[in-house]
Amino acid sequence: MKSLIAYYSRRGENLVNGSVQRLTVGNTELIAAVLQKFTDADCFLIEPCEAYPEDYYQCIDQARQDLQRNVRPKLKKYPESISPYDVIYLGYPNYWGTMPMAVFSFLERFDFTGKTVKPFCTHDGGGMGHSERDLKCVCPTAHIAPGLSIHGAEFKYELSSIEDWVRETESTPLKKQTTGGNNL
Ligand SMILES: Cc1cc2nc3c(=O)[nH]c(=O)nc-3n(C[C@H](O)[C@H](O)[C@H](O)COP(=O)(O)O)c2cc1C
Repeated sequence: MKSLIAYYSRRGENLVNGSVQRLTVGNTELIAAVLQKFTDADCFLIEPCEAYPEDYYQCIDQARQDLQRNVRPKLKKYPESISPYDVIYLGYPNYWGTMPMAVFSFLERFDFTGKTVKPFCTHDGGGMGHSERDLKCVCPTAHIAPGLSIHGAEFKYELSSIEDWVRETESTPLKKQTTGGNNL
């Protein structure tokens, strides 16, 4: 069974426990890195040609406008095909209750028939929002597995939940485990 981790994440200013901080690695990116340690999955970064502003307030403004206009940002690149993959781990931050529009651009490019999509979402209190419902609309022929939502600021306390969640679909033993004192 072959898996792909496809994720969107943004470095730069973000709200962490109520104050604006500059993140050098995005929260979703951190989870994607953990998933890669557990699995043999290939990894793909969903990256729009035009990144959102580094400034937190400008970023949330622009993301809200993009959602209202239902835009599909052009991506820098796409995987050639998703045919080799049985499972797609799809990672994204909760943006205004759903996925960033760049994730919609990615999803609409491919036919997910017969694929299992496992969404993982980082957030600041809103959980997965309505992203799972939206995902089902965009990929109606995929099997959408139960999602994993992680509070961005709590990431390091959630390693065992991430591991349990991955174990639900991976038929082969995990490459690395949090139990037994391994530090991820
Ligand atoms: C444009 C924007 C919109 C956001 N909207 C929400 C939201 O509606 N609900 C929520 O819980 N968190 C929201 N957040 C917080 C992010 O989901 C959270 O910080 C996430 O972990 C960021 O992931 P990243 O570092 O991988 O980009 C928003 C953040 C941004 C930048």
